[in-house]
Amino acid sequence: MMDNTPPTSPGLKRAPQRGAPAVPPLQKGAVRERWSFRRQPPVFSPLSVRALLHAAAAASGRAPDPRPGLQRLLAATFVADRVELTGSGTQALELAMRTVWWRAGTDAPSVVALPAFGCFDIATAAVGSGLSIALYDVDPDTLTPDLDSLRSILAGGVKIVVVAHLFGYPIDWNGLQECAAPFGAVLIEDAAQGHGARWWERPAGALGSLSILSFGRGKGWTGSRGGALLQRGPAALDAPPHRLANPVPRDEASALGTALAQWMLGTPGLYWLPASIPALRLGETRYREPVPLSRMTRAAAAMIWTSGPLATTEMFARRSNAWELLARLPFSDHVRPLRRQLGGDPGFLRLPLRLSHGLAGFRDAGHARRLGIAASYPSTLGQLEPVRERLVGPETHWPGAEILVRELVTLPTHSRLTNRDKATLVRVIEEYRRTPEAR
Ligand SMILES: Cc1ncc(COP(=O)(O)O)c(C=O)c1O
Repeated sequence: MMDNTPPTSPGLKRAPQRGAPAVPPLQKGAVRERWSFRRQPPVFSPLSVRALLHAAAAASGRAPDPRPGLQRLLAATFVADRVELTGSGTQALELAMRTVWWRAGTDAPSVVALPAFGCFDIATAAVGSGLSIALYDVDPDTLTPDLDSLRSILAGGVKIVVVAHLFGYPIDWNGLQECAAPFGAVLIEDAAQGHGARWWERPAGALGSLSILSFGRGKGWTGSRGGALLQRGPAALDAPPHRLANPVPRDEASALGTALAQWMLGTPGLYWLPASIPALRLGETRYREPVPLSRMTRAAAAMIWTSGPLATTEMFARRSNAWELLARLPFSDHVRPLRRQLGGDPGFLRLPLRLSHGLAGFRDAGHARRLGIAASYPSTLGQLEPVRERLVGPETHWPGAEILVRELVTLPTHSRLTNRDKATLVRVIEEYRRTPEAR
């Protein structure tokens, strides 16, 4: 395991650093800058006019169906033998669970193991698959599975395990396989948040025999929505009889409309507009009921295909910003970085930190939110009613996950952050240490 000192980049030293604006000493009220309507979106997933035009042409049938080409691109990029394009990452994950369960045969226990801390969509997929759920704990220092907790679930006979690279922090895949192999369990790699993450130079999404990707609006590489199930090895040829519904014109129009709104409003100057409409519930983590499985729309596939190079450029900007922030942030008992796994190169969809009092420890939580600082998931998966109804297994408490619910906060890393934005983020985190509540 490693700590989060940046890789060998001589330009990145603790503040003040060469080539970056020095952080002025903290003054009373310094963080209360005039932000007018500026508000940072959580993630910037680039789309271009060209991508939107391509999507419109593909959706209306004026351009050839982009989905076979996208399947080949993903198969080559993520070294997969079979690629299925789905309506969302959640659907891809549900399809993965159904596939493993179908292959295991009806004698296998109908239980899937999930991380106790993570995106609620993981729970949605499990509920949609009809399987019972066992939860394993998550290590609060690394965001990776607590292997002792996972082992105790596997010892109970569970054969299907979902593991997620949370916030793009790669999991030690070898360690995980060594844990699962003696029990004959199949690992499903959830790389929905893994864009740009690498583990020993292999991309997240290319590590498991089954992996899923998401192309939702906050995933860095987007088609406004969409997902993919990638499979490798001989079992990939063994296709289960699951049918995915074909998208109808309304689905195509809806994918295009969402993308257009995202393209127009997903920047710091305009994001306040959708963020101030309560009905949109942006930035809110909530449980969503499963929907019937469907194929990806042509519009989404066209956008994903066309915006790939932009997403790669954005990913480099994200990583550079994250490393710069890690080099400049004042770490202490109140503000702690997450540890990377050996060989893990995070994609930094956002920058996760552990703050002793979470978002509540900021002097002005509203200001922190406008800067793009966000609390993480508001509860463990074990606290969700639909999960509790299906819960099996020995554990009823997940101490690591509970710490993460209280303490994990994420910072934006996207390319729309200016030098001033980054300096302000550093300053409010410095302030955090000085608030009475955080002492
Ligand atoms: C870890 C994880 N898995 C699955 C999903 C579901 O992806 P989608 O939003 O494309 O349904 C998400 C979405 O946020 C996620 O973060």
